[in-house]
Amino acid sequence: MTWEAGADLIVVGTGVAGLTAALQARELGLRVLVVSKDAVEAGNTGWAQGGIAVVRPEERDEDDDLGKHVEDTLTAGAGLCDRDAVRDVLADGAEAIDRLRAAGARFDADADGLLARTREGGHRAFRVIHAGGDATGAEVQRALVGAVRGGGIPVLERHTVVELLRGDRGAITGALVLDGEDRPGVLHAPAVLLATGGLGQLYAATTNPEVATADGVALALRAGATASDLEFVQFHPTVLYAEGGPRGRRPLVTEAVRGEGAVLLDVRGRRVMEGVHPMADLAPRDVVSAAITRRAAETGAEHVFLDATGIPGFAGRFPTVHASCARAGIDPSTEPIPVASAAHYSCGGVVSDVRGRTGVAGLYAAGEVARTGLHGANRLASNSLLEGLVLGARAARAAAEDLSRGLLTRKRVGDVRAPALAVVERDSLQRTMSRYAGIGRSADGLAAAAEALDRSAIVRPMRSRRAVEDASLTLTAQALLAAAAQREESRGCHRRTDFPDTDDLRLRRSTGLRLDAAGW
Ligand code: SIN
Repeated sequence: MTWEAGADLIVVGTGVAGLTAALQARELGLRVLVVSKDAVEAGNTGWAQGGIAVVRPEERDEDDDLGKHVEDTLTAGAGLCDRDAVRDVLADGAEAIDRLRAAGARFDADADGLLARTREGGHRAFRVIHAGGDATGAEVQRALVGAVRGGGIPVLERHTVVELLRGDRGAITGALVLDGEDRPGVLHAPAVLLATGGLGQLYAATTNPEVATADGVALALRAGATASDLEFVQFHPTVLYAEGGPRGRRPLVTEAVRGEGAVLLDVRGRRVMEGVHPMADLAPRDVVSAAITRRAAETGAEHVFLDATGIPGFAGRFPTVHASCARAGIDPSTEPIPVASAAHYSCGGVVSDVRGRTGVAGLYAAGEVARTGLHGANRLASNSLLEGLVLGARAARAAAEDLSRGLLTRKRVGDVRAPALAVVERDSLQRTMSRYAGIGRSADGLAAAAEALDRSAIVRPMRSRRAVEDASLTLTAQALLAAAAQREESRGCHRRTDFPDTDDLRLRRSTGLRLDAAGW
């Protein structure tokens, strides 16, 4: 090892969950060290558009209450949410927003100076607060980065966690990390929080940036934790379509555009969502994405249209979407926007309780990487920033509590070797996953995908960020394929062409995956 450092808590990831956790940990007096494999702003949080779903009774919510938010979340989750977890997490939303505003975040206000609210798919009420019109994530990220930097919390940028280190009894003792020049080093710590975000880079077209490579799921699986609900990858119904098909990172067209009146039309000008669901264009996301995919196939097109021409002042209300459209030569105020679905959000992840604790002593998870039971088979729009805020703070508190009760081992780690791990070339992995593990899946396709990955995997030493990311994608793809093959039904974001129905008798439950020598 060429370098080392130590802390009470290592936070891996610098999105909403990681930065919130770092601030809370510092407030509780922990020595906290934040690690980001790229620049601190590079993650998914900054790209979030629509907003944060939260019920605040003191701010003119006479049409809404926590119970309705809970019910909407459960409905979207298609029978797989944990009701207690949903209520418990959502109930902390208002306080989490207060903390975020105290850290400097500014939200859009209405004419009365109250928080402006919009609506998105699956929400019965206008309860989604937003910033900069449709730049909510950027404002959240700006405020949290400012608070972390202002508080002097150390952040190691361009440092990649290769492996979690554990002591004799399996408890966390630190992490093996590559610095910006790929020099291996050790971070000693009895507690590690995974706040590494999502896995959109498993697919050829995604709303996620390049850093979303499933690192946390892979690290946790290799450390003995359980992952669950990985089969539920949410495809966002509306990303800006590009000629030649949606590929690479695609600009999001926030659901709030439909929340404010836009409608989906097929290439022949017929409504897509009429007669499909009582909430029509504002049905839960899984329903809309599946309907778009069906209609596009029926019409022989790769996309449908989103007609937002009826929204007055579009450019001012949705500046981010307007700018993306302008770059593609589209003016949403006078012409429909071509849109398609793309991989967006992992509803499953590392199994953790609503305090952020995983099954491995000293290992915590928060945000998209975690599976707390909040999202079930399909996340309700704009519940994710909220979850990051609530769980980030709670995970830091749980680590502080476990440390003060002497439950975690403070142990210096000796010399550690970088592991060699199975890796599939990224383009080929993304093509395979997009073809067989997208919106329509079947036993034959999933088996073909698993076989293709196994056949093309080669074992490589983990000496660079790219190698670590590819290994994370490979292991997580294999886990996702195994989970999707086991779930012989269609539910939420998981759609099987060979099992089109929901099987509530046998499969209304989550099943966990753990890695052992024999596989899953
Ligand atoms: C959107 O604005 O449509 C995305 C928000 C989310 O994924 O929750």
